[in-house]
Amino acid sequence: MLGIRPMTIEDIPVGRRLVAQAGWNQLEADWRRLLDLQPGGGFVAELDGVGVGTVTTCRFGPVAWVAMMLVDEAHRGSGIGRALMTRALESLDAQGVSSVRLDATPLGRPLYEDLGFVAEATLDRHRGILSPADGTPGEARVRTAGHPDLEAAIALDREATGTDRGRLIRRLADEQPDAFRVVGESGRLRGFLLSRPGASARQIGPCLGDDLAGPALLADARSRYAGETVILDIPTVNVAAQALAGSWGLRAERVLLRMGRGPRVAEDLSRTWAGSGPEKG
Ligand SMILES: CC(C)(COP(=O)(O)OP(=O)(O)OC[C@H]1O[C@@H](n2cnc3c(N)ncnc32)[C@H](O)[C@@H]1OP(=O)(O)O)[C@@H](O)C(=O)NCCC(=O)NCCS
Repeated sequence: MLGIRPMTIEDIPVGRRLVAQAGWNQLEADWRRLLDLQPGGGFVAELDGVGVGTVTTCRFGPVAWVAMMLVDEAHRGSGIGRALMTRALESLDAQGVSSVRLDATPLGRPLYEDLGFVAEATLDRHRGILSPADGTPGEARVRTAGHPDLEAAIALDREATGTDRGRLIRRLADEQPDAFRVVGESGRLRGFLLSRPGASARQIGPCLGDDLAGPALLADARSRYAGETVILDIPTVNVAAQALAGSWGLRAERVLLRMGRGPRVAEDLSRTWAGSGPEKG
């Protein structure tokens, strides 16, 4: 019999098994972050007591992101994904969330469309091994963020994404303080970048900023992580970021479809140089 219940830290092994089966990149730390950011906001599907599916939600005021929709291959196509998403949406509706968003894979799209999500934008996932920089640094000075930069980065993020993702940015910065890089003075921050390790690649992002800061932050990441395999989720509209990743030899391996349900959130994707991955946006 199928049951759906809130996901806890004890269910992370189920999540990790499904991530590995799907070939996704998330580590235990990603599950912990998602569950910590939204206690009671993740759900696990059980078939006769065995975990076979997951979904997480992360709420930022009136906006929420849904992520980690995974169903065991052996049980797909029998309504488990629909049941998980329905439960997640019921929970968000009960909390008064107005806009629900997600970045969909082709496998998820038909279900989401059926549940009222509409396509809003696309992001191209670039992957590859970073070769050593060619000695051409970005035009702006990039430095490691200090404490006063955190609030400035959160404000910049809020302005560009139309969402107060402060809890997420704070958590990512806490987890990887050395990976928190900025351009500009904290009073006038022009851009920031965060990154984190993954199962098969380092996820570079979020990276948000203006036309000077974005390329400089990406160039800085390139030299810091030279030799590593990386992933960048780049909005298709950010042509300059796409070109930069292409010039580094990274390949666009798949497209993620950003979808929304409810009032569209006003975000300026031209200021996103790399998205933040599954938590979201
Ligand atoms: C996407 C995923 C979670 C769907 O889970 P699922 O349990 O198979 O989904 P359901 O059985 O509830 O199907 C829901 C809908 O998806 C569509 N669907 C499911 N399997 C399908 C298939 N083989 N071909 C076409 N459409 C299909 C149908 O529209 C179905 O609607 P229906 O209920 O009217 O039949 C699952 O395929 C999965 O884990 N994929 C790998 C990870 C992934 O890509 N996750 C999505 C991230 S955005």
